[in-house]
Amino acid sequence: MPEFSVRLIAWQRQHGRHDLPWQKTRDPYRIWLSEIMLQQTQVSTATPYYLRFLARFPDVAALAAAPLDDVMALWAGLGYYTRARNLHRCAQVVVEQHGGAFPSTVDGLAELPGIGRSTAAAIASFAFGARATILDGNVKRVLARVFGVEGFPGDKKIENAMWTLAESLVPADGSDDDVSAYTQGLMDLGATLCTRGRPDCAHCPFADDCVANLTGRQRELPAARPKKAVPTRRTWMLVLRDGERVMLEKRPPSGIWGGLWSLPEAGGEAALAERARNLGARDEPSPLAPFSHTFTHFRLDIEPRLVEVDRAVAPREIGDVETAWVEPKELDAYGVPAPVRKLLDGLRGSLL
Ligand code: ADE
Repeated sequence: MPEFSVRLIAWQRQHGRHDLPWQKTRDPYRIWLSEIMLQQTQVSTATPYYLRFLARFPDVAALAAAPLDDVMALWAGLGYYTRARNLHRCAQVVVEQHGGAFPSTVDGLAELPGIGRSTAAAIASFAFGARATILDGNVKRVLARVFGVEGFPGDKKIENAMWTLAESLVPADGSDDDVSAYTQGLMDLGATLCTRGRPDCAHCPFADDCVANLTGRQRELPAARPKKAVPTRRTWMLVLRDGERVMLEKRPPSGIWGGLWSLPEAGGEAALAERARNLGARDEPSPLAPFSHTFTHFRLDIEPRLVEVDRAVAPREIGDVETAWVEPKELDAYGVPAPVRKLLDGLRGSLL
């Protein structure tokens, strides 16, 4: 389809998105920040976070100079927290090793923490007009349908073939604005028309050529990830409460929720009861409604337990974990994982 880019650019100009808060700028800092937030997050979720980050950290130097804890607290709720740690490290590398200016090439950008090949290409095309190829989940879906690419796009072989296809489609010439419109068009088509569940083929500029549309295989393309049972883990969490305050502890820097503030945990009922006693509780912890949280590679079943404690009692458990007694209104200042925050907010409504 030789005029793929021409059609896509025309469609983007007429029907694409033009008012997202990170558009109408070529500031690589803003573009980078938005692309990192949008990696695994929808526009509607990412937007308020993006605006808060910009207000607090107006440029890369401000972000680099901030304590990681502040960055984590502002990121809390967006998930995939490695992104936040890499964001902070990346800002520091840009300041310390690049004099505060982002590299302008895909290769230069892709060397920075948290920036993969597709994100580097998005930044290079939006900020510097580079003829660079993006290939994220949405773009894979569009290409799989339009060109009838069989196989699971997460497969290395299929993915490589898709990179080659995507590279062959990028406009060879044209202005910087054309390149931005092309990249944005790929994203917009995937996000607004060529959606996973309900593609709007009637309004698609590729409807007459799209393999999936012509063969009625929108549901089968792209092929789903081969089924594999998701492993589950189980954890017991302690809501240790003294009046309004709840005890939080800071998690180790790596692993799930690394560096965030969460509830004390144990691997079983008895172990949790013992922790509660060691932390000064006299009663047995009582069960709250269990819930689950799904991570990329496993599901975590959480058994929360509640117990009152008088903080005047000196805890016997003294480790090197940082702890804090936090009032509900102070929670925003701590980076608390979203499901834990939900639990605490729910308790506040009913019990606190
Ligand atoms: N998803 C990833 N990057 C995006 C962007 N720049 N605009 C909208 N959605 C996106």
